[in-house]
Amino acid sequence: MSTKHDLGFGIDIGGSGIKGAPVDLQKGKLAEDRVRIPTPQPSTPEAVAETVRQILDEFGWTGPFGCTFPAVVQHGVTRTAANVDPSWIDRDAAGVLRKVTGRDALLVNDADAAGVAEVEFGAAGRRSGVVLLATLGTGIGSALIVDGHLVPNTELGHLELDGHDAETRAADSAREREDLGWPEWGERLTRYFTHVENLLWPDLIVVGGGVSKKFAKWSPYVKTRTRMIPATLLNEAGIIGAALLAHRGERR
Ligand code: BGC
Repeated sequence: MSTKHDLGFGIDIGGSGIKGAPVDLQKGKLAEDRVRIPTPQPSTPEAVAETVRQILDEFGWTGPFGCTFPAVVQHGVTRTAANVDPSWIDRDAAGVLRKVTGRDALLVNDADAAGVAEVEFGAAGRRSGVVLLATLGTGIGSALIVDGHLVPNTELGHLELDGHDAETRAADSAREREDLGWPEWGERLTRYFTHVENLLWPDLIVVGGGVSKKFAKWSPYVKTRTRMIPATLLNEAGIIGAALLAHRGERR
């Protein structure tokens, strides 16, 4: 049975919305319906932190919380901003979150949080070996988890592929922008994942992001030697993973 000691709190900062909920860390599920507030524009660290505070207040949550961010996060400092406001680059964003919210905050890359959740509670269903999670959305996020341990900030969406930043060719946003059919997009994913496989030789690839719901439609066109499966926690994975890392008191 879960107790209040198994409760954590996760927040997912995205380009269009900021979502948060308490998380049951025994079951790996949201303990209450999540709240979503549109991302403020311009999405400066201070403005986003203010929205995060509102979400925490809404649930009366005063403890430590975990927060995802769609860029490199090194020990609380946001280092890149591929698809977010450039004002985050080299900011002590975890410090800003702590100051504005008055709670202890852990900040983690969005794909890393999702990967941790999928390994602990979701699709991967295993902790041993090398698991790679790739999220296909506006960009491509990656999480590398080795025997249950996260290797943070792998950023495999930015591998160079045929002279391009890979995510500009193979992310779900590229499929939409170029109006690619499943077979054409599948070819691009094959090219991408083959490259990744040749570098890392994972035991399992888990694919997340909204388009993972349509896995059955496009996966027949993706030829990989590694077993590939869809994520199961879907758009809750980031919230769950961030809450878990904060609960464990991990600092990245
Ligand atoms: C960013 C990653 C992020 C991914 C998914 C990429 O453009 O560089 O840090 O995980 O998008 O949001």
